[in-house]
Amino acid sequence: MSFDAVQLIVEKRERGELSTEAINWLVENYTNGVVADYQMSAMTMAILLNGMSRREIKDLTMAMIASGERLDYSGLGMPTADKHSTGGVGDKITLPLAPLVAVFGVAVPQLSGRGLGHTGGTLDKLEAVPGWRAALSNDEMFSQLQRVGAVICAAGSGLAPADKKLYALRDVTGTVEAIPLIASSIMSKKIAEGTSALVLDVKVGSGAFMKTLDRATELAQVMVKLGQDAGLKVSALLTDMSTPLGRKIGNSLEVEESVEVLAGGGPSDVIDLTVMLAEEMLRLAGVEGDVRAALNDGRAMDKWNEMIRAQGGDPTAAMPVAKHSHVVVAESDGVLEQLDALSVGVASWRLGAGRATKDDLVQLGAGIELHAVQGETVRAGQPLMTLFSDDEDRFTRAIESLSGGIKISNVAPTDRVLLLGRVTE
Ligand code: URA
Repeated sequence: MSFDAVQLIVEKRERGELSTEAINWLVENYTNGVVADYQMSAMTMAILLNGMSRREIKDLTMAMIASGERLDYSGLGMPTADKHSTGGVGDKITLPLAPLVAVFGVAVPQLSGRGLGHTGGTLDKLEAVPGWRAALSNDEMFSQLQRVGAVICAAGSGLAPADKKLYALRDVTGTVEAIPLIASSIMSKKIAEGTSALVLDVKVGSGAFMKTLDRATELAQVMVKLGQDAGLKVSALLTDMSTPLGRKIGNSLEVEESVEVLAGGGPSDVIDLTVMLAEEMLRLAGVEGDVRAALNDGRAMDKWNEMIRAQGGDPTAAMPVAKHSHVVVAESDGVLEQLDALSVGVASWRLGAGRATKDDLVQLGAGIELHAVQGETVRAGQPLMTLFSDDEDRFTRAIESLSGGIKISNVAPTDRVLLLGRVTE
């Protein structure tokens, strides 16, 4: 069946519902270049403004899956479980989580991405480990899952190519934050990836795509339903992203903090979220286990070392360190009432930890180490954080981004609640 791109754009502009055939045609012809970028950008803006029905979102997701290959781990002889975070500041949870879950005989096929904008990317972080390789063939991935039980690697170009093209377009046309587009983008990749269980970590707050609990809940419900309709066991945790996770933000720095957690230490919010997500993945996979014990007795660390070595990395080698540092101090006595996730994320990005365009190189040593976190008492002149960058001239812009995000007062904020909700169907 053939359609006219302009007619479909007008239909969505006028709040119409696109038929299954129209969506299939649109995705197929956008992927092969018949529908132009400028037409698809008008369409994504119409979707952002006017939304899509659940049926349209499902059709869009299935069409994006059908644009590429679909992996299958049924021959593995092990249950599979994966986690996907909608992205946040200091969110390094995948790093300790994948080996931790693998300890219990549940295989974790984690296809990850790179950072864009203020949220970091798992692959950029792991590339701070000398020798580590992100690109694996499907056969290498399967064989590592069989031998080690966990793999974190780049999604190959064959997986949901329609999403790759569409995501790049949305990124430069102000159309990222649309629930139908986010849900279909994430779930097409996760369903095509072939995991049988999936836990979604949907972030809520200033540092996340979804700023309110209502919007995050809606996104979680749409994604859970898409996964269940495709036969996956799926649930979503809604977690706080109003202030950074942990005390280290940036590529080498986040690997360092993940290793602290794998060694049985590290900041309590990073440990708690890792444990919560691991327990949820095991529950969905139908496996029992004492997750905290595996962090404390070295089993998760052994698995991490195995996983890193399997991809050419040396887990004992020194990681890149930034050439310059700058200490930001507290301007007054009081309580750190607010340390805003978005301000810290943007500062870290400006220091060089993130990229502005897809082709930029990240600085592996750049980022921020927090010496005080939200809710802690501070004294005037006390170091609040250290900024790291290879270019000294980046400090000024990073400090500008921090200025509105640090509030010291005599009002203690309410205790941080990490888990804000759960969606299971
Ligand atoms: N992550 C994705 O993979 N896609 C989106 O649209 C947003 C976050």
